[in-house]
Amino acid sequence: KEGFDTFSPINNTLLAHFGSTSQDDYEIVVEHSLKAFRYWSKIPAPKRGEVIRKVGNAFRNEKENLARLITIEMGKTIQEARGEVQEVIDICDFAVGLSRQLYGLTMHSERPNHRMYEQYHPLGIVGIISAFNFPIAVWAWNSMLAWVCGNVCVWKPSEKTPLVAAAAFKIVDDIFTQNLLPKGLMSVINGDKSVGQKITDDIRISLISATGSTEMGREVGVKVAQRFGKSLLELGGNNAIIVSENANMDLAVRAIVFGAVGTCGQRCTTTRRVIVHKSKLEELRFKLEAAYSQLKIGDPMDEKNHIGPLIDEKAVDIYKNILEQFNKSEIVCGGKIIEGNFVQPAIVLTNSDHYLVQKESFVPILYLMTYERSIDHAIEIQNSVSQGLSSAIFTQNLRESETFLSFLGSDCGIANVNIGTSGAEIGGAFGGEKETGGGRESGSDAWKNYMRRQTCTINFGDTLPLAQGIIFN
Ligand code: UN1
Repeated sequence: KEGFDTFSPINNTLLAHFGSTSQDDYEIVVEHSLKAFRYWSKIPAPKRGEVIRKVGNAFRNEKENLARLITIEMGKTIQEARGEVQEVIDICDFAVGLSRQLYGLTMHSERPNHRMYEQYHPLGIVGIISAFNFPIAVWAWNSMLAWVCGNVCVWKPSEKTPLVAAAAFKIVDDIFTQNLLPKGLMSVINGDKSVGQKITDDIRISLISATGSTEMGREVGVKVAQRFGKSLLELGGNNAIIVSENANMDLAVRAIVFGAVGTCGQRCTTTRRVIVHKSKLEELRFKLEAAYSQLKIGDPMDEKNHIGPLIDEKAVDIYKNILEQFNKSEIVCGGKIIEGNFVQPAIVLTNSDHYLVQKESFVPILYLMTYERSIDHAIEIQNSVSQGLSSAIFTQNLRESETFLSFLGSDCGIANVNIGTSGAEIGGAFGGEKETGGGRESGSDAWKNYMRRQTCTINFGDTLPLAQGIIFN
């Protein structure tokens, strides 16, 4: 059957062959989804929450197995893979609570004997496009919320991680089946970009939530907008940590190293730039070099290792090509290809104008640069890229941290103080500005993306007063 293969990035072993979703299969998926939506949307939200509680418990039971599968198919370390499954469990818990909190406002009507309020209804089918780097966490942010809101989901996972998607599907599908819920509450479609296009082009898919590169998001966003669908975009990041002259350097170093090398530099929240006050450059450079020299790179299943492989050979080529653009003297440390998809994380001393610094490359290369004047100068550098996902400042100075958090400060969707750029908790709304796409997923009121808002005005009197005092007798 036509399709594609999935390999382990650890040793390039062929893991499985997957068939691509054909147009006929896709039509069956949508038919099932629409039917399931009619059923599921009528179930009261707290009852839907009860089902999601069971889904969360099923993920708890399978945490270790799933984490191992993530490590095998995606290559992140087992510690981080466990963290990813925990993120799924956490969003399930969040969604259960949310199922009793899908609140709308009430307003005072200007007319007597009138009541005005707003309510939220489910959208229908939610299409989810997810990336290889978080094969299930980002899918879970979307689908758990979508489900408690009364929607059904069609998921197009990354072609690089279809096995993890199949395992997650099986866990969820078992719970749905045990609870006598219809097929179509959740579907997975597999294949390349053309399969993703089936949902972006389909007017029956009310919302497309897409995670991936800015190029992908630009295409998806335009397609969905053309048909007046809703889209939720979580695209590229180019995240910076500012290290001020008032920073606690030990905290900063720990955060920078985890942010830059965690998941082998393949998180959308990865720390890609460090903007350090000139007076602290030497100290930071020395400490980072010392920390990088202690990093253990190797089998991601071995708990001692901090870093696993890059996803594939193409990523290794990107890593290599970028480093070739810099002089040897600019490479502070790292830069070697170890073997297969394993590379040594690198630090490059450069400046914010370099064209490569402006780009998000999904590899463990950290750009180190300095600022000279006040914290405003550092913020100007931090905001000088086209992406706007995550940002952080390390300082013990209140004025600096508050300036960074003010409206003239960081222009990103996430702004942290004395915490790195990655590793956000599920309770906050996650997403970013500018070329990151503007969407917000996960916590806070991100659920509103999965519902349509309706304003309702009810007249319980026996006259028909018009708003704005208009007389029309
Ligand atoms: C992503 O890389 O697409 O904040 C998501 C983090 C994780 C999620 C990253 N909680 O790094």
